[in-house]
Amino acid sequence: MNIKLSKKDLHTIDSDIELVVVKDLKKLEKSTQKLLKKISFDLKSFDTYFDASKNIFYVSSAKLKKEDLKLCFSSAIRNIKKLNIKSVKFDLIQNDKELKIDEIVEGLVLGAYEFTKYKSAKNKNKKMNITISTKNSKKNEEVLKKTLANTLAITSSVNMVRSIINTPPEDYFPATMANDAKNIASQNNLQCIIHGEEYLIKNGMNAMFNVGRASRHESQLIHLSYKPKEPKGKIVLVGKGLTYDSGGLSLKSGAGMVSMKCDKGGGSAVLGIMNTLKALSCEYEVHGIVGAVENMIGGDAYKPDDVLKAKNGKTIEVRNTDAEGRLVLADCLCYAQDEIKDIDYIFDYATLTGACVVGVGQYTTGIMGNNEILKRNAVLSALKSGEYATTLDFNRYLKKTIKSDIADISNIASTRYGGAITAGLFLDNFVEKENKEKWIHFDIAGPAFVEKEWGYNPYGASGAGVRMTIEFLKNIDK
Ligand code: BES
Ligand code: ZN
Ligand code: ZN
Repeated sequence: MNIKLSKKDLHTIDSDIELVVVKDLKKLEKSTQKLLKKISFDLKSFDTYFDASKNIFYVSSAKLKKEDLKLCFSSAIRNIKKLNIKSVKFDLIQNDKELKIDEIVEGLVLGAYEFTKYKSAKNKNKKMNITISTKNSKKNEEVLKKTLANTLAITSSVNMVRSIINTPPEDYFPATMANDAKNIASQNNLQCIIHGEEYLIKNGMNAMFNVGRASRHESQLIHLSYKPKEPKGKIVLVGKGLTYDSGGLSLKSGAGMVSMKCDKGGGSAVLGIMNTLKALSCEYEVHGIVGAVENMIGGDAYKPDDVLKAKNGKTIEVRNTDAEGRLVLADCLCYAQDEIKDIDYIFDYATLTGACVVGVGQYTTGIMGNNEILKRNAVLSALKSGEYATTLDFNRYLKKTIKSDIADISNIASTRYGGAITAGLFLDNFVEKENKEKWIHFDIAGPAFVEKEWGYNPYGASGAGVRMTIEFLKNIDK
């Protein structure tokens, strides 16, 4: 899809069809009002109708801003794609109201996404040219252009994350992720360090190393850094990059294993965020650390009953090899805090627990940490960005349930309740004292991958974590 702005009058722009957003029927010509009434055009449900006699495509929206507007343009583009059309034009002013470019473009780009790589050629996405007439806009042209460029940087990164997550595990393994990180680095002038298993062993990262032991693919520790000239602060993003989670010897059920290619969702989100920073001229130094590992079975697999020593010296009793994400993150959090000093914020992203999905539903991220204000701000950023998130509170009693009789800590809780929180509390053991209040854990197990289209999100990966973090970065100083 190619989206451009034009100062020209809408009528002078050459295009296959014109898109018209309908909020209030009275704003339309009498004949059009009559036509839309006749076909029971629904003004509330982002309904669409194509008038082939005039080459006008109508889409309804009860509100002309925020999520409604994104959903409106998503519905429009999805239905336009079903027609054999190459170009679309529309006015930035609709129903006498100037619409926001970022909301329009988010709806268009995120809504138009389809994962077609594994479909036969005839079904592939076709190119579409979209021209937005800004002739009657009250805003400065440069500002509009900048907004368009920024929104394209964000949405194309979200789509990149979706495609990474949707790629099958046979084609996407730790080395593939490391390779993607290298490419992102070279396109964005980022520093990129990749460590293999030899490094993990040498540096005491036994928790992470053991999870990947039975896989034929070598685990990869990825470290990207974005360093502007005079950074205003330092932010560390850590992601769980399980390119596949079979559960290990505590094997998942057949049904439970399906879609576990999504277990790289956290690490992929980190790559996506890192891919936007240069384009957005981010003023913070940002580090992206991803533990890319495959959790498999075999004669060399780590076992329930093993005790593993993490990079910070803490010993972990493995009671379930399917609680592997927290083991990988434990070492990645230690690595991050050993390598990077004077951190302002440290966030981790992970498809960590099924319990989080059960607790808050598949569309919502669970936010955990020790700093109430920071957690609230993270929720607000998520909601503002169009992602759903809610806090899940730690407490001293759940904290006791991850004690171990033979090691410092157990990788599963002794209670069947509160599994998302006990996983968060496990991670807290690997956050240093000075960073306790700077840390947030995002459990994206639900929204990272949903096997049903929702709003402008497609079947499969949504790219959860990217937009909320970019919104958070935007608001730090406020
Ligand atoms: N990757 C899963 C969590 C998950 C579940 C992600 C559903 C996406 C959708 C994680 O590694 C896992 O298996 N967690 C276990 C933890 C349990 C053994 C304590 C779970 O949630 O069942
Ligand atoms: Zn697991
Ligand atoms: Zn997992």
